[in-house]
Amino acid sequence: MEASLKEPSDDDWWRSAAIYQIYVRSFADGDGDGTGDLAGVRARLPYLAELGVDALWFTPWYLSPFADGGYDVADYRSIDPAFGTLVEAEKLISEASEVGIRTIIDIVPNHVSDQHPWFRAALTAGPGSPERELFHFRPGRGEHGELPPNDWPSEFPGAPSWTRVPDGEWYLHLFTPEQPDLNWAHPEVRREHEDVLRFWFERGVAGVRIDSAALLAKDPRLPDFVEGHDPHPFVDRDDLHDIYRSWRAVSDEYGAIFVGEVWLPDAERFARYLRPDELHTAFNFDFLSRRWDAGELRRSIDATLTDHAPVGAPATWVLCNHDVTRTVTRYGRGDTGFAFAAKRFGTPTDIALGTRRARAAALLTLALPGAVYLYQGEELGLPEAELPVDRIQDPMHFRSGGVDPGRDGCRAPLPWVAAAPNYGFCPRAEPWLPQPDGWAPYAADVQAADPGSMLTLYRRALALRRMEPGLGDGPMTWLDAPAAVLAFTRGDGLACLVNLGDAAFELPASAEVLLESGPLDDTGRLPQDTAVWLRI
Ligand code: NOJ
Repeated sequence: MEASLKEPSDDDWWRSAAIYQIYVRSFADGDGDGTGDLAGVRARLPYLAELGVDALWFTPWYLSPFADGGYDVADYRSIDPAFGTLVEAEKLISEASEVGIRTIIDIVPNHVSDQHPWFRAALTAGPGSPERELFHFRPGRGEHGELPPNDWPSEFPGAPSWTRVPDGEWYLHLFTPEQPDLNWAHPEVRREHEDVLRFWFERGVAGVRIDSAALLAKDPRLPDFVEGHDPHPFVDRDDLHDIYRSWRAVSDEYGAIFVGEVWLPDAERFARYLRPDELHTAFNFDFLSRRWDAGELRRSIDATLTDHAPVGAPATWVLCNHDVTRTVTRYGRGDTGFAFAAKRFGTPTDIALGTRRARAAALLTLALPGAVYLYQGEELGLPEAELPVDRIQDPMHFRSGGVDPGRDGCRAPLPWVAAAPNYGFCPRAEPWLPQPDGWAPYAADVQAADPGSMLTLYRRALALRRMEPGLGDGPMTWLDAPAAVLAFTRGDGLACLVNLGDAAFELPASAEVLLESGPLDDTGRLPQDTAVWLRI
């Protein structure tokens, strides 16, 4: 097999990478206190290396009061003590690199924690002070300033975007009140972030995920929101591109890469962030949001590749993350698409069906051109956890008035050992979020020993993906197939076929099956909700 080993230029690793997202709190608990930490990740590096991923993306690991799971950062240059220390982070980065795994960190530029020294200073300094200029402080409207300065909708629906402070001024926060928005028109805000980027690049970080990347720039007049008005007062404003061009100049000095969290309906506007002097990649949320329907998925794949081509950026493929419903649950529901506004408690779910589809979707995404993201637990086929309401911590739940179950269902601590208390996550302590009963079959130890498990499927697929020169970045060609079958070739003689229809599909004669997401039928045909990789 030596001859077929892929040897992409090292600098291009990100164009084909399989990147594993670590939600630190819930991945692995090294000190046994019930909260995941860096020691836990370091101990599990062999697991990640065996899984076969190229890089780890860590959700924020910085000092934080955790009003929004760490997306409220109090100090971008230190590690939260619940997770460890800066020295440990440095060790983790270098130990991961020793086993061939790069590190991507999460930078949160739109807002800081209300405990960040800048915001505390702004509160103390009072109206009109230079400290307040780093944020969006304004007097209120109404006779006594009792009304917020404008009517902007919150990114966490159901709650206000402004909070009034005791001296009467209001400050803007697109998320929770504990996450005041920074004023990106201020040079100090730009300077500070470029410095933070350098701080982490100096420590060997290979990439940065940019949180809420399309929200930083605001219309300086802070006008009321008018539905459909272009430009939007705070989404996807043109000034952002200049910010990312200067970030790119910094990352180029270190050969590091960016992945933007850019939720935008307009694909052409989305692609602007991926121009050669801006971000390297951005998450493909269009694909993630699609229903399990061959036509919809095919249109999304085509649109993705068409939109990325002119800017020369590779696509990314994502099925879930720490904000969205876990894949096996989503695909097991009546509505298999994803929309934040549609999340509700008690949605009927067929987990067996969802799991079959998620297995097929794994082979689909791992065969598509570009880079692929995998969220911790996806390789175990974890379903969304239905948490007791009194254990929910996610502010999205509270800010919706309790209507939205929030995002904790995809954040439950991972099951490592089927037979141990708390599935081996923290055998002697209470986990920070409860794990559902009945998760023993999902535990990594039993799956590692089971040739039919989700973990084995991911390991095999990732290993093949590394070996096959046609996979990862590069062209793909659709094959003739019925509308319900997604069939395409990659490179020289590798094909991926996914059957979403109820009629079993005859595989091409003399094709060698390299990997299948589920059993073929008695006559060797591809059944519904099943995918194969073939040598043709
Ligand atoms: C996107 C993150 O993924 C999410 O978890 C967070 O709540 C918001 N940005 C605010 O930082």
